[in-house]
Amino acid sequence: MLLTQDLALTVNPAFRRDMLAGFSRHPKATPPIWFYDHRGSQLFEAITDLPEYYPTRTETALLASHGADFARAIGPGRAVVEFGAGSARKTPHLLRAIQPAAYVPIDISGDFLHASSAGLAAAFPGMPVLPVVADFTHPVALPPAIAAMPKLGFFPGSTIGNLEPHAAVDLLRAMRGSLGTEAMLLIGMDRVKDVDRLIAAYDDAAGVTAAFNLNLLHRINRELEGDLPVEAFVHRARWNDAAARIEMHLEAQEAMRFHVAATPFAMTRGETIHTECSHKYDGRDSRLLLRAAGWEPVEEWRDDEDLFSLILARA
Ligand code: AVI
Repeated sequence: MLLTQDLALTVNPAFRRDMLAGFSRHPKATPPIWFYDHRGSQLFEAITDLPEYYPTRTETALLASHGADFARAIGPGRAVVEFGAGSARKTPHLLRAIQPAAYVPIDISGDFLHASSAGLAAAFPGMPVLPVVADFTHPVALPPAIAAMPKLGFFPGSTIGNLEPHAAVDLLRAMRGSLGTEAMLLIGMDRVKDVDRLIAAYDDAAGVTAAFNLNLLHRINRELEGDLPVEAFVHRARWNDAAARIEMHLEAQEAMRFHVAATPFAMTRGETIHTECSHKYDGRDSRLLLRAAGWEPVEEWRDDEDLFSLILARA
């Protein structure tokens, strides 16, 4: 009895609500933020090191090589607010280049955030590091200590691509609101490219992305007393050309019945749960997205292969 109560107390109500809603939809679809439990965050870190997953490497190289450009275009003395900081491995390149007045990493995963914040505070003595554990897709209260400072929003990794375009505009507009009128934004966006290259990045040979996708089912079974037969699902990555996005799905290999939070569900063989969209933005689309949200693009940096863009915009 006590144990049941303990379990009930630790259930994240938003996770329960989103999974029940997502599994009740036709076709089934779940929001990607729930990938990132501790294991999911570890698997995502492993993805960023995969030979097929070019975005992290490419963006990091852009950050490392354009320090002088950032110093000129952004200047010193801003509070850098990083949305979805995770392990913040790319951030030192930017911080070194622009000498900020403070650094505010925001992430939903407290474990990762606190570890990376401690590392950055040690590497940049004298720069206040003020981590905020929050889901930045909802309004986030920034620390009062940076209220009077001009801000630079930093939103790397092409995380913006994981939102539907209307939600992406809403989020960018909300960032503009919370960062203030003096603000700038440095955002990473993954570009449309050869489909085979895109598919390989989301369906790697070592199966790490598959494990990342399937981990959602393990999390449901563990945290929501689910009985999904995880071994009866396979990972699928598909390119949706009309929507310019990679979609990740979990495909049922057989007809099945299961429960999530005591609610019964059924799937037919071949039916999928759509677990993630990763939109890719070409030049005009990326600029239109920013302008629709009240950001004026001022400069853009791309790698030689045109795989990935870093865009600087002004509120
Ligand atoms: C976090 N996000 C930008 C990643 C992406 O590329 O869409 C998440 C990811 N999903 C599978 N691989 C990586």
